This record gives sequence, C-alpha cells and structure tokens, in this order.
Amino acid sequence: MKSKQTLEAAPTVVPAHVGIIMDGNGRWATARRLPRAAGHRAGVKNITPVVSCALDYGVKCVTLYAFSSENKNRPEDEVNALVDLIRKRLKPMTRDLIKRGARIAFSGDTSYFPDDVRAIMRDVESENADGIAKTVNIALNYGGRAEIIRAAAMAARDGEVTQAAFEKHLYTAGLPDPDVIVRTGGEKRLSNFLLYQAAYSELFFTDTLWPDFDGAELTAMLKEFAMRHRRFGKV
Ligand code: IPE
Ligand code: IPE
Ligand code: MG
Repeated sequence: MKSKQTLEAAPTVVPAHVGIIMDGNGRWATARRLPRAAGHRAGVKNITPVVSCALDYGVKCVTLYAFSSENKNRPEDEVNALVDLIRKRLKPMTRDLIKRGARIAFSGDTSYFPDDVRAIMRDVESENADGIAKTVNIALNYGGRAEIIRAAAMAARDGEVTQAAFEKHLYTAGLPDPDVIVRTGGEKRLSNFLLYQAAYSELFFTDTLWPDFDGAELTAMLKEFAMRHRRFGKV
C-alpha cells in the first residue's frame, strides 16, 4: 500500500478531513454470485489499508460512512449481518488503526445497537490515548438530517441557537469540516452523509466498488484535491 512510488507521488496540499461513503459492497458480492453479506465482509477488510494510506499522507481525520440511519430499512437478514460484522470486526479493525496512531470516534445514534455491540464501542473508545491528533470517525446509524435536528434541539434547550452553539452539539464537534468527500460505487449523491459539514467539501465520485477501492485511487483523488481552487464564496 505505502509503496515508494505512491509516497513519491504524495499530494502537496493535504486535506485535514476526508469523508468516505463506502458504497458498492452489495454489487461487488452480486457480481461474484456471493451473498451481499460477503460484500460487506470484503468492505470491512478494505478499511484499514485505505484509512492507513490517508493517515500516512498526513490526513488528520477520516470519517467512514459505515451504516446509515436508512440502512436499518434493509431486509432483516442484511441488517443482522451488518450488526454482526460490527460485533465481530470492530475491535480487531480499530486495534490496527489505534496502533497506527489514531483515536476512534463514533457519529450517529448508537442507542439503536444491542447492548453487547454498544459495550464493544465503549471499549474501543476507552482505548483512546490522550493527546492523539488523528481521528478515525465511524458513522454508525448516522443520518445528517437527524444530526442537524438533534443539535438544533440541544442548542435551543441551552437557550442559544448560534452557529457556534449549534456546532458544539454535532457528532463531529471538535473535528474540522470534511475537505474531501469520496463516494465509491458510482452513485452521485450524499445519501444523508454530513449534510451540514459538507457545505464546502470537494466531492469525488468513482465507479469503483468499495471493496476494490485502493490507496492508488485515493492518492489520485488527493492529488486532484491539491489542484482544486477552493473559493468559499470569495473571488
Ligand atoms: C455500502 O454498500 C455499505 C452499506 C450501505 C452498509 P451497499 O450495501 O449499499 O452496496 P450496493 O450499493 O448495494 O452495491
Ligand atoms: C450510503 O449508501 C450509506 C453507506 C455507504 C453506509 P446507500 O447504498 O445506503 O445509499 P443509497 O441508498 O444508494 O442512496
Ligand atoms: Mg449502496
């Protein structure tokens, strides 16, 4: 992954925060005549290499869209397979990322998940050391609209609905807005991902299905990011 060649091609302007909509697991499996759950397993295996590549470039935060609030409406056996993957793979996967110097955070309404899965999430968060500068933020049962409504309600309860008071209640409080949002799997939409935070994100779409996405393609996107002219409304 971190070959000499890709490092030499390292982009010059590195985004602080990269969001990834990891789409296409189901189609990856169907193309191989495998059950959709096999695609989700392949997708989980692909997380550590791609995230490690981003962290190696100096990206400070990666947010992974792993399970949307709407994904709960999939057939029960697929939802169960996804929850079971979190149960079995979250700890080993995050252990690798923690070893690479990241802390793990979660965005979303995690109260949805069974107690044993929530205990695993708490365990993973408790392994976070103080003073860690890199964050891998995993969006689980996450929906951008619900996040906005929740933060607005909390700010209203505090009696202060200013931008700063509102942003304090976002799941991503303390993290920079995503500079880059990557969506794999060919669809060109956000599907309720970081709706508020994506106001000025640079968007990258690829037809590559998530289990096939790799460090070389991420590198190409980061290089293109470095060439883009971000104006933020100015001239
Ligand atoms: C993304 O892959 C993973 C989740 C949404 C959990 P999909 O499962 O949406 O895969 P496709 O889009 O059906 O191929
Ligand atoms: C977005 O993918 C959610 C995740 C990747 C976790 P979906 O497959 O759920 O999005 P839609 O349904 O194509 O918009
Ligand atoms: Mg999909």
